[in-house]
Amino acid sequence: MRITAEVDSFLTQITLLNEAQTLALGAALAARLTAGDCLALRGGLGAGKTTLARGLITALSGETDVPSPTYTLVQSYDTRKGELWHGDMYRLERPEDCVELGLEDAFLDAICLIEWPDKLGAFLPETAINLRIEFAGEGRVAQLEGAQHWIKDFSL
Ligand SMILES: Nc1ncnc2c1ncn2[C@@H]1O[C@H](COP(=O)(O)OP(=O)(O)OP(=O)(O)O)[C@@H](O)[C@H]1O
Ligand SMILES: [Mg+2]
Repeated sequence: MRITAEVDSFLTQITLLNEAQTLALGAALAARLTAGDCLALRGGLGAGKTTLARGLITALSGETDVPSPTYTLVQSYDTRKGELWHGDMYRLERPEDCVELGLEDAFLDAICLIEWPDKLGAFLPETAINLRIEFAGEGRVAQLEGAQHWIKDFSL
């Protein structure tokens, strides 16, 4: 499978022709994340945010059953890089509600993958790495923003 990535100094644009490529991008990103990193997964309903998270979580933990946390809002996993939290903030009513979910603490030292990150308001870490997925024909395009320390050696 071939995934093409166009890299400029700030933005990496990655063509994802099918679901398998979205999963593969998640697995590739898994190698770059370390404890305390937050990946903000942006894009509209059905863009592929959960799919990407699934590829990433499976690569780090071996877990193949990765449900969308649509109703639980958060789901945590033990991985070879420590704790990983997968959140879907779509149904979060108020930003401060993330505290009782445990997310504020998770941001300190867990890897966090957050769908609908804008719902967190000021609780979203400023250092979050933005990954946006957009519809493109039958497939998708992913834009990875501002992670220069990843982009330097980015290849899939
Ligand atoms: N690159 C791709 N090309 C085509 N279809 C894809 C691609 N990546 C994911 N999909 C498909 O898009 C659909 C929606 O994916 P997913 O549930 O991951 O979206 P989401 O962004 O998490 O949605 P929501 O906003 O509801 O949480 C799935 O059927 C998935 O197989
Ligand atoms: Mg989702």
